[in-house]
Amino acid sequence: QWTTSSIVDEQVARIREQVGDGKAICGLSGGVDSAVAAALVQRAIGDRLTCVFVDHGLLRAGERAQVERDYVAATGVRLVTVDARERFLGALAGVTDPEEKRKIIGREFIRVFEQAERDLKAEGDYEFLVQGTLYPDVVESGGGAGTANIKSHHNVGGLPDDLQFTLVEPLRALFKDEVRRVGTELGLPETIVQRQPFPGPGLGIRIIGAVDAERLEILRKADAIAREELTSAGLDRTIWQCPVVLLADVRSVGVQGDGRTYGHPVVLRPVSSEDAMTADWTRLPYDVLERISTRITNEVAEVNRVVLDVTSKPPGTIEWE
Ligand code: XMP
Repeated sequence: QWTTSSIVDEQVARIREQVGDGKAICGLSGGVDSAVAAALVQRAIGDRLTCVFVDHGLLRAGERAQVERDYVAATGVRLVTVDARERFLGALAGVTDPEEKRKIIGREFIRVFEQAERDLKAEGDYEFLVQGTLYPDVVESGGGAGTANIKSHHNVGGLPDDLQFTLVEPLRALFKDEVRRVGTELGLPETIVQRQPFPGPGLGIRIIGAVDAERLEILRKADAIAREELTSAGLDRTIWQCPVVLLADVRSVGVQGDGRTYGHPVVLRPVSSEDAMTADWTRLPYDVLERISTRITNEVAEVNRVVLDVTSKPPGTIEWE
């Protein structure tokens, strides 16, 4: 019987063996995977782990504060926050191709971790980089035997060739539900363990078109409204996640107040899933959809249309890019 506590024991032993008396950096994204990976490594090597939270400017509203507050409170881990917004937005300027965006984001993450490693040099060498890579991330990035590259998950296919770190990836054989159980076993609170997935490349792959600060702000507002309404309708555990996608290069004509508008659509992509390898579109109650749509078009001036994605995976993927 493959129990959760045996997974924890085995991974802790493996991490101890791999890292020896070395030091490790772990990128925390605010999501479940990196939180659980960090907690496992912390159990294995204690304060020789330092977590790094990268604010890449592609975060949702409130994300940074959530990590700085909740995760540190739950684990007592040392956390360094890096403001890398200019760096990421500069590197992404004008880029529209989804794979190119993913590779740029993956590379810039590593560059930030390398800088953090240099900043921590006085304390010794941080040779290891912990990542919360899951089995589905590996498969979808073309890492499994005989699998096609569907998209390069930022922590797999997006890694630069000249990576200086040795990777520690204790979740590489696990699915999300197992990761959640491991997190619970390690004592992480529900608010972290039951969080809906959010991709490392963040809102950067939810803007269809080039990414810039203004577009990010539009999407951030629309996303915050959708999340707020889904939470107050008690649907957080019913849905796997609900990406909100900004079709930044599409415009349509609307009428708001007594004036003509020429604004952007946002797409709601609510999905139900067991492991993100396949998914079904969630039949959200119409009154919830209506509240989200009304609020977004009233409160986000640049958006004049809200559309619903009713595609399963396959043939669609969950994220649009
Ligand atoms: P797709 O779009 O491939 O998404 O159906 C499957 C699940 O993975 C998340 N996702 C990512 N997570 N880095 C991540 O950490 C990534 O690059 C990435 N791309 C997609 C997505 O949100 C969904 O839960």
